[in-house]
Amino acid sequence: MPHPCLIAANWKMHGLRASLTVAQTLASQSHAHPARVVIFPPATLLPLMAENLKGSALKLGGQDCSPEDSGAYTGDISAAMLKDAGADLVILGHSERRHGHKETCELVAQKVRAALRAGLEPIICIGETLAQRQAEQTTEVLLRQLTDSLPPELAGKAFHVAYEPRWAIGTGLLPSDAQISEAISLIHQQLQHRFPGTQSQILYGGSVKGENAGHLLSLPGIGGLLVGGASLTAEGFLPIIAAAGPRAPLA
Ligand code: PGA
Repeated sequence: MPHPCLIAANWKMHGLRASLTVAQTLASQSHAHPARVVIFPPATLLPLMAENLKGSALKLGGQDCSPEDSGAYTGDISAAMLKDAGADLVILGHSERRHGHKETCELVAQKVRAALRAGLEPIICIGETLAQRQAEQTTEVLLRQLTDSLPPELAGKAFHVAYEPRWAIGTGLLPSDAQISEAISLIHQQLQHRFPGTQSQILYGGSVKGENAGHLLSLPGIGGLLVGGASLTAEGFLPIIAAAGPRAPLA
């Protein structure tokens, strides 16, 4: 049985209580589609959204978590707090954390371990910058990020990897089909090598819109999409959910 597509809405630092209606619209209109839909709202909205979406198929996730379980870490949010607030998944190593907050692969791996301890399903993001692609370092960068951000503790656990070229995030630029396929197949090979038989989905993220979602999902090995800007409104996100169907895994 192919796994359902994972369609993830990364709201980043957007959303006040008024945005709860967006989640309600998504919950009422997305059930006809086979995709597994997850919203990653700001942490402040998680408990409210969890309450509002009770009984719906929509899942919730956090956008980041602390590598620590608890303690004197002002401003940080632990994986257990996210879980307690209604999250089932967590995005880790997003390029806005890696670059904006100088997160290293080693820190991302510690966060992954913390997420697993709390029973969260991590989506680990990797991706090259434009300068790295132009210098033909993409393969090397992706391999390093995969090796160093994915700890061995992931064996036998539910987790996913999102390929998000930094230069495609929020820019309207899309990699070519060949560039995406090359990255997806590299990730697939590495995952099968390190975690044989893993059921992990490989997501693509970066300038996904209703108009390109169907095509992106038709590329071999893509098991879902991580969507930023276009996930902030029901009008933007519903066509992306509608474009998804069960995907056949790579042989
Ligand atoms: P975008 O963001 O869809 O706005 O390009 C994607 C992401 O950052 O996950």
